[in-house]
Amino acid sequence: MIIHSAEFIMSNTDPGKSPASAKHEFAFIGRSNVGKSSLINMLVARKGLANTSSTPGKTQTINHFFINEKWYLVDLPGYGYASISKSKHESWGPMIETYLKKRTNLTTTFVLLDPRHDPQKIDIEFIQWMGDQGLPFSLVFTKTDKMKRDQLTASRKKWESTLTETWEELPPIFMTSAEKREGRDELLGYISSLLKLDVSH
Ligand code: GTP
Ligand code: MG
Repeated sequence: MIIHSAEFIMSNTDPGKSPASAKHEFAFIGRSNVGKSSLINMLVARKGLANTSSTPGKTQTINHFFINEKWYLVDLPGYGYASISKSKHESWGPMIETYLKKRTNLTTTFVLLDPRHDPQKIDIEFIQWMGDQGLPFSLVFTKTDKMKRDQLTASRKKWESTLTETWEELPPIFMTSAEKREGRDELLGYISSLLKLDVSH
């Protein structure tokens, strides 16, 4: 898929104020600093479209980007940042939770994971929560440039075996590096295949 336009539309803290919901939408979620904003920039080949930072907690709002004047990519705040003391239910925040639950045109959500870490409780709980809500998602490993190939394979296997404990079927899994632009064709190809489906919500 060729990206010929990517436009920042709005940033808000009220999911109800998102753009009119008749178009496909794809959201990016994951722990703070996992690389959500960088991945969006890599996909649309526009450095600086979504704000990134080496300090966790950069994205604090729901950010809509209009792509090819047809569909949206949505950059979300990270979960797990400064929320260690909060209860499990609160840990990804009411704003994110409301957005994910209420956004009827949300075609799928990409849950980003850092392969340098073993499966983390907060990620497992978030994935479980998505499942409990019946929300479709894929898993995206980020920053693969920071690991050797065999380490990466081992990490993916560890994740797969952890998830298989509770899931009969695994969701699609993508390996990406925003730095090296890896996984771009695969992710855009997947989005493209979903765009062909009717927005029947
Ligand atoms: P929050 O908005 O704080 O939740 O973070 P985020 O998930 O949006 O992460 P962001 O894209 O801001 O990236 C965090 C840091 O990781 C930045 O310093 C990025 O340059 C770096 N980073 C992101 N993706 C990659 C990658 O693929 N490879 C490498 N080496 N660094 C990356
Ligand atoms: Mg961000």
